[in-house]
Amino acid sequence: MTLPQKWYAGVFGAVALCTMTATPAHADDLVVDRDGTTVTVHAIAPGVMRVRIAPVGAPAQDASWAVPADVRHGATPVTLAGNVLSTALLRAVYDPATARLHFEDAAGHTVLGEAAHPIERDGARFTLRADLPLGEHILGLGDKTGPLDRRGQSYALWNSDSFGFGSGTDPLYKSIPFFISTGGRGGAYGVLLDSTWRTWFDFGHRAQTTLEMGAEAGPIDYYVIAGPTLPDVVHRYTALTGRAPLPPRWALGYQQSRWSYMSEAEVRALATRLRAEHVPTDVIWLDIDYQDRNRPFTVDHQTFPDFAGMVHDLDGLGIKTVAITDLHVASAPGQGYGPYDSGMAGDQFVHRADGSVYVGTVWPGPAVFPEFTRASTRAWWGSLFAPLVKDGVAGIWNDMNEPAIFDTPTKTMPEDVVHRIASDDFAPRTATHAEIHNVFGMLNTRATYDGLRALAPDERAFVMTRASYAGGQRYAATWTGDNSATWDHLKLAISQTLSLGLSGFAWVGTDVGGFTGGPTPELMTRWFEYSAFLPIMRDHSQKGAPRAEPWVDGPEQLAIRRRYVEERYRLMPTLYALAETSARTGDPIARPVIYDWPAAVGEDCRTEMSFTLGGRLLVAGAPRPEQHNAWQACLPTGQWYDYWTGTTVKTPASLGGYGLLTITPDPAVLPVFVRAGTVLVRQPLVQSTAQRPDGPLELDVYPGPDCGGAIYDDDGHSMAFARGVALRQTITCISVDGRLRSLTLAPRTGSYAPWWHQIAIVVHGEGQYRAQIDGHALAAPAGARFVVPDQPKGTTITFTPE
Ligand code: GLC
Repeated sequence: MTLPQKWYAGVFGAVALCTMTATPAHADDLVVDRDGTTVTVHAIAPGVMRVRIAPVGAPAQDASWAVPADVRHGATPVTLAGNVLSTALLRAVYDPATARLHFEDAAGHTVLGEAAHPIERDGARFTLRADLPLGEHILGLGDKTGPLDRRGQSYALWNSDSFGFGSGTDPLYKSIPFFISTGGRGGAYGVLLDSTWRTWFDFGHRAQTTLEMGAEAGPIDYYVIAGPTLPDVVHRYTALTGRAPLPPRWALGYQQSRWSYMSEAEVRALATRLRAEHVPTDVIWLDIDYQDRNRPFTVDHQTFPDFAGMVHDLDGLGIKTVAITDLHVASAPGQGYGPYDSGMAGDQFVHRADGSVYVGTVWPGPAVFPEFTRASTRAWWGSLFAPLVKDGVAGIWNDMNEPAIFDTPTKTMPEDVVHRIASDDFAPRTATHAEIHNVFGMLNTRATYDGLRALAPDERAFVMTRASYAGGQRYAATWTGDNSATWDHLKLAISQTLSLGLSGFAWVGTDVGGFTGGPTPELMTRWFEYSAFLPIMRDHSQKGAPRAEPWVDGPEQLAIRRRYVEERYRLMPTLYALAETSARTGDPIARPVIYDWPAAVGEDCRTEMSFTLGGRLLVAGAPRPEQHNAWQACLPTGQWYDYWTGTTVKTPASLGGYGLLTITPDPAVLPVFVRAGTVLVRQPLVQSTAQRPDGPLELDVYPGPDCGGAIYDDDGHSMAFARGVALRQTITCISVDGRLRSLTLAPRTGSYAPWWHQIAIVVHGEGQYRAQIDGHALAAPAGARFVVPDQPKGTTITFTPE
């Protein structure tokens, strides 16, 4: 029998191409020749396989901005038997009869399978085709708008300054070419198309059961990531591209921003007002106007005469300062502007094809752009933050890094810009802007993050970015850019946050209230309510838009907004423990309900306004938050408690994975529920995370099956936690028929000394209790609230329902 292709498995001879690093050959890769290309499948972990397709004899360079070299070069035990490469979790199978490659889970279910005509080429462009069986749903692609389930849609990835974007705008600021399929026979799987070029994805839009992905040029290099569950895929994807590091605790506090607070006097007055109004606050943001003529790395000393003193005094009030530093540098020859002068002296700026420095117009007027693809330029850029760090600025905001440019038709750099890559395991070479565009913003944040870490090695760095690429979560938190003060954008705020969370970016904020326009009082209040339960809570608004501080709509609205901010601060130990888990596992902080309850996918549960924190606290958002009619919240099967009253919720019988609960909207109440079997860790109210809470640590117990929770604490800002100066204590509890019988605190691990000396245990649900510790009865002063001394060695408290 003659095979249509010559194919073989085994070592593929490495061929040096120009100065590039050749593809490393692994004896146990699956290597196939097909239609003049070599298809190489390499297992880097039991659940991750990398596929590269290159012209025969011309392997592509092995380098990546998304996947660090040590991860890419990972190896795992495999079995290579003819045309089948297997790990414990995945199998790559090449069928010579059809000349198609497919991937199976360990049980033999196909997860991703090439379709007929699996590759189409048009010059340098390529399109890959795979089957998309009916029943599969698609998640991911970062901040894309539209339905969270991306099936039936198509998208382009090209980082774009998208001022005033709408619910159908595409592309947006970030390019994260990673998606997850759920609902297939093999469960969930993920794909990262590691291409920084303009890419596109079609999830059954052109042809209902075909998935297409492609790029304008560049190597074909993608990863298949095993499930079978959605969390499995997210954990593996974030092991591949890196996890968002644990930020300082203040990043979880309330943050007040505006384009711009124009002067030191205004900032000081703002801080005073925030404290006077008792709106707990951790951060004030300085937008471009604190700078001299919008020039990065300068301060306007006319309007901010004592910048360092101001930052210091804010610190004294428990308020950190985050300052914007856009990626451009003003083109200001001969004016004594250090970043320009030292940048020119070091040849740090992006060139045009003719060798001249590229100049484009942005906020400072004519500006030049650091060559962030070079490690040496990134180091230079990072060092420029020294004065701001010295002045006490706690975090840096990198904006406009798509990069945005005002005076070009494309609103970004022209195609004749030539980048000079010298970084990581890339061979030093030039590259077109078309290749670098989508990763430029991420490299800007990499330079900033590394710079801050180098300047203050024992402090956690906080960087905020608008543009990024897959893996950018290693360097920066993100926000969704210039949204609008509309109900539609409140909905987008939730779905974009959830989608970014599934795409590696656990730290996401949206401009609370909307950047453009002015929110109605009701919209603003609702936005506060939702944001109190989302990872980053930053109120920000455009220059010229109505003021958007919490008090602008009068005392009634302020009282509601304050109450939600306060709730966030009371929940801080729970939020912080979630953040720490996220840094270790990649779990999003806010996640869609299906993350933990894959069966809750009925029509009624398709709302993208609902999400959970850690799968235990469920924020049930109204599908149409602008309407005042009663609606039905979807609660996954099981027992739930109302977060606000602590009483159990009666939901109708299970409809197959979920039940429906009728909710009558109340502008002052966001429906929040707690899964039975949860211990939420809370603390007394503070006005800032810098303030030491006064009183016991509170454990709110919601009796039910699989009952537990976790205490985590550390100093909230230094790297000491990485050396074990942290504290962990696991909580488990036993309930019988919905009544609590015992609560066990495991012995504490880690050496951090906590702020609390007592622990208060509050048991929710119906009925009263008696409680005992070490054979002694505990007094219950008010309701079911028992106070015990701190228990570093662990203990079990028994409860007797009355
Ligand atoms: C961009 C940012 C916005 C910022 C403004 C001025 O539009 O997205 O958040 O306020 O620039 O710096």
